[in-house]
Amino acid sequence: MATMTNPAPTEAHDTFPINGTDYVEFWVGNARQSALYYRAAFGFQLTAYRGPETGVRDRSSYLLTQGKIRFVLTTAIRPENPIAEHVKRHGDGVRDLAFWVDDARVAYAAAIERGAQSAQEPTVMRDDDGEVVMAAITTYGDTIHSLVERRNYKGLFLPGFRDIRSPFMPEPVGLKYVDHCVGNVELGKMNHWVEYYSRVLGFYNLLSFDDKDISTEFTSLMSKVMSNGNGRIKFPINEPAPGKKKSQIDEYLEFYGGPGVQHIAMATDDIVATVTALKSRGVEFLQAPASYYDELADRVGKIDEPMDVIRKLGVLVDRDDEGYLLQIFSKPVQDRPTLFYEIIQRKGAKSFGKGNFKALFEAIEAEQALRGNL
Ligand code: FE2
Repeated sequence: MATMTNPAPTEAHDTFPINGTDYVEFWVGNARQSALYYRAAFGFQLTAYRGPETGVRDRSSYLLTQGKIRFVLTTAIRPENPIAEHVKRHGDGVRDLAFWVDDARVAYAAAIERGAQSAQEPTVMRDDDGEVVMAAITTYGDTIHSLVERRNYKGLFLPGFRDIRSPFMPEPVGLKYVDHCVGNVELGKMNHWVEYYSRVLGFYNLLSFDDKDISTEFTSLMSKVMSNGNGRIKFPINEPAPGKKKSQIDEYLEFYGGPGVQHIAMATDDIVATVTALKSRGVEFLQAPASYYDELADRVGKIDEPMDVIRKLGVLVDRDDEGYLLQIFSKPVQDRPTLFYEIIQRKGAKSFGKGNFKALFEAIEAEQALRGNL
């Protein structure tokens, strides 16, 4: 059963203050081409660049923005490079879920004292626009959390990044901010990471789902949603539960080569317009079974959006005590069945679409079966 567990700490008790998500960095095989995909298909704007032309010799990074969302796509430009190794093992994927903090040195010291592993000691980066202090700690798999202090910086993004203009500027599709980022971890490791986020980063367990909430005929999983003190960062953590066949989490772990970020949910104020635009640009979404829509009106009651449009687009709807939400899930955005996106519109609801789990998982399993991985 889904249960609300702990209340959010008041600010005075937030043991690890984080202002919000600073950026999400992906390590990819070809950042130049990935950047074009995110611009053309998802409506991101190419905003800044750092690479050999700006004095960084071993990598190229493209900053893409839409609403408050900052994605950084980074690639190795030489073979002997940890980014190239990461891509060889994981394929394209999320390397860094970066936190914006007031004081990176203080945050880093607190995290290390509470048992975090270091990925980067505090480092000062400077350019004509001031300085940024960055440090990083590890989390599940090869994923890290950078701690970014930018109070003495007035530049575009980070030192070394240069403003870049392109005549190719596809219209944004209305994506506003990162709603949540989901991690997949190994069987038996969910509670380890729940405890880690709680002890080291002051997160609390907002919601829990067990394998009775999240199971189909074939597979099941367990999930706990962790939230930081101010509620701006939400990290559901999934682990597979034993089922009749290979679960979607097992499939992810096999193809990603270990734990990692499974999906990023991006919020919109108009899911009908956003999903219509994304589909017209070639983004592919999972399709719920037709029976889902036959039962939908009875399950969620009256909603503002026309039901025939919701059905045609394949958008899912769920209701909780506070309102309802609309959501849809993309197919994986690379050839490995790993990272995908969720588009979500919240109309009061603060939950995660529990009423849609069954339809969603059946849709994922249909895709798994096509890949020969069920
Ligand atoms: Fe989600």
